[in-house]
Amino acid sequence: MALFNKKKTENEILPSPKHIAIIMDGNGRWAKKRGLPRTAGHAAGAETFRRIANYCRTLGVEYLTVYAFSTENWKRSEEEVSGIMKLLKNYLLEALQDMEKNHVRFKFFGDLSRLSPELQELCRKAEMTSSQYHEVQVNFCLNYGGRDEIVRGVKAFASKVASGECSAEDLTEERFGDYLYSAGVPDPELIIRPSGEMRTSNFLLWQSAYSEFVFMDVLWPDFREKDLDEAIAEYHRRNRRFGGV
Ligand code: IPE
Ligand code: IPE
Ligand code: MG
Repeated sequence: MALFNKKKTENEILPSPKHIAIIMDGNGRWAKKRGLPRTAGHAAGAETFRRIANYCRTLGVEYLTVYAFSTENWKRSEEEVSGIMKLLKNYLLEALQDMEKNHVRFKFFGDLSRLSPELQELCRKAEMTSSQYHEVQVNFCLNYGGRDEIVRGVKAFASKVASGECSAEDLTEERFGDYLYSAGVPDPELIIRPSGEMRTSNFLLWQSAYSEFVFMDVLWPDFREKDLDEAIAEYHRRNRRFGGV
């Protein structure tokens, strides 16, 4: 379904990219500015996620991939990590309840085995019960690392070669994509990172080869619909050449 975003100029209507990815960064700084604990920043960030995911749906975005917890985020205090996990749990419980109303398909990218059995079960349930929906897909990156994803893909392919199921020569860029968490999902056209940091922090290393990056100064809990409009407008101002002329 083609839905359209705000205008770039008075006369132009801009289609949303099919696949938008967001590095939801800046929760800690948002809390610090207010003299609040970091967990309060994550709670506010979770609210923003709900809002922006809804907005993406009204814009007709087909895939929304969000970086929620990286393979490196375990370095944080036990208190902060467990606060984030609790927010995730609450969100998933709510998503499961609203499933029939929202029709959002959920996928989880990352090594879920390090999460609590309870969270793993909720992720599995959300993925299973939402697999019947095809309008919009939210890819939740949890204990996700782009390097980890690639190494896992290499291992999975190597074991097929070792068992004689296929030969090393069969590997192509397209086929390798099937060994990643994102198998079957088109690469994101647009990756947004709020909070002022200008790096990928191990997000979608393979899939972002030709993505347009939009870095914004706003902290994630303050990110609003108009910021997404602005990022999409910026995306439309880019000249995507894919190595051509
Ligand atoms: C992003 O916000 C959320 C996670 C990484 C889980 P941060 O917690 O990184 O916020 P800042 O970057 O410290 O402000
Ligand atoms: C990236 O943000 C991970 C998530 C937003 C989930 P970080 O805050 O962890 O990244 P760095 O440490 O600034 O690179
Ligand atoms: Mg950060």
